[in-house]
Amino acid sequence: MKTLVAYYSRTGNTKRVAEALTENLNADIEAIMSDTKEKGTGRLAMQAFLRVRAKITQTTNDAASYDMVVIGSPVWVGKMSSPIRTYLAQNKDKFTSVAFFCTHGNPRSEGSVKMLESMETLSGKKAAAVFDVPARRGSGAYVGRAKRFAAALLELPASQ
Ligand SMILES: Cc1cc2nc3c(=O)[nH]c(=O)nc-3n(C[C@H](O)[C@H](O)[C@H](O)COP(=O)(O)O)c2cc1C
Repeated sequence: MKTLVAYYSRTGNTKRVAEALTENLNADIEAIMSDTKEKGTGRLAMQAFLRVRAKITQTTNDAASYDMVVIGSPVWVGKMSSPIRTYLAQNKDKFTSVAFFCTHGNPRSEGSVKMLESMETLSGKKAAAVFDVPARRGSGAYVGRAKRFAAALLELPASQ
């Protein structure tokens, strides 16, 4: 299965999970870039809340050439990050199959289920698998979760 892991990360949590997944899936990786580091968190929260599509730079991997695109985002005010909203909107017609993950600050995963569902709605595709990672877990805790998620993806029937 030819797999792409595409993610947006502002402070590195989603990036770490994306890199662990990439290694376990033997996948290509796409870091989605936006200007969010220049904006305060209040503004980012407002943009996420209003479902604004942030400007993103040109991506380098063609989503259409992959059997599976695994897409990761931080949770922002219970919603997907605005760069991921743009990526999904721009590429939804190119996906063969998708899986989603998110990282979040709330240890109880509240909000992440709805957020992952909204990624399905925007991409127009039912996710083959989803998972979430509470970012405040001790450093490295995400590695085991990423491994299990990757293993589950690799076991999916070829038609997924
Ligand atoms: C604007 C903003 C809003 C956030 N809103 C939430 C939230 O609603 N729920 C939550 O659990 N974490 C929230 N967080 C925390 C991030 O989801 C968490 O730190 C995430 O792992 C950051 O990922 P990154 O390091 O890849 O950017 C928010 C962070 C920011 C900057």
